[in-house]
Amino acid sequence: MSIILKTEEEIAIMKEGGKILHDILHSLKEKITPGIKTYELEEYAQKLFKKYGVEAAFKGYQGYPAAICTSVNEEVVHSVPGNRILREGDIISIDAGVRSKGLITDSAITVKVGNVAPRISKFIETCEKALQKAIDTVRPGIHVVEIGTVIQEIVEGAGYSIVKDLIGHGVGKTLHEDPEVPNFKTPYKGPILEVGTTFAIEPIMAMGEGEIETLDDKWTIVTRDRSVAVQVEHTVAITPNGCEVLTK
Ligand code: MF3
Ligand code: CO
Repeated sequence: MSIILKTEEEIAIMKEGGKILHDILHSLKEKITPGIKTYELEEYAQKLFKKYGVEAAFKGYQGYPAAICTSVNEEVVHSVPGNRILREGDIISIDAGVRSKGLITDSAITVKVGNVAPRISKFIETCEKALQKAIDTVRPGIHVVEIGTVIQEIVEGAGYSIVKDLIGHGVGKTLHEDPEVPNFKTPYKGPILEVGTTFAIEPIMAMGEGEIETLDDKWTIVTRDRSVAVQVEHTVAITPNGCEVLTK
């Protein structure tokens, strides 16, 4: 495999889709309140995809049965919306992908349900800060490993663990393409980023150990120690000056 560079026109299309994805995620955020079931978020998401005239890129991906992933507390990623009821103090990551005019963008936000404990707020803020610092670091000519290096410094520096089994990825023509984008420093530096590379940066971290397991539904990934996990994600494009966030 190799990196599929995108033209300026393709990046413009991804930016358009990414803006819609941002609006969908933030409309979903507004719905989040204690007592709501994750399936209600899925139903609302389906309406929003329809309203904007874009496809839900996750639906049917390797058989995934829903438009969005709704991962609560100890659920790390890929939790299928269902009967779980959100309670005050929970946190939920909503992850979604948009396919618009044949090109995909991928993004996730983590949202607080009502009031959450200060230690949980700080935990989410650390993940958001790690994503922002990674975005600030990205520019043409750097090796991919620099992204994971800054994320790891921030996350471990704050006393949390990186979930090392889950990584960011190239995105665009398909949901997962090259390059792989680990959230930690690896001996392999990874490829050099060139203008036109599009990829998802997605720090994923746990309050306890970073070990994970998959539940019997074959999708939901949880922390082994059932500690709270958080994920945030943006799709970005490498530009001559640095990088552009496409999902905002
Ligand atoms: N954003 C998720 C990822 O990069 C996409 C999950 S696809 C799904 O892994 F089908 F599992 F939902
Ligand atoms: Co992703």
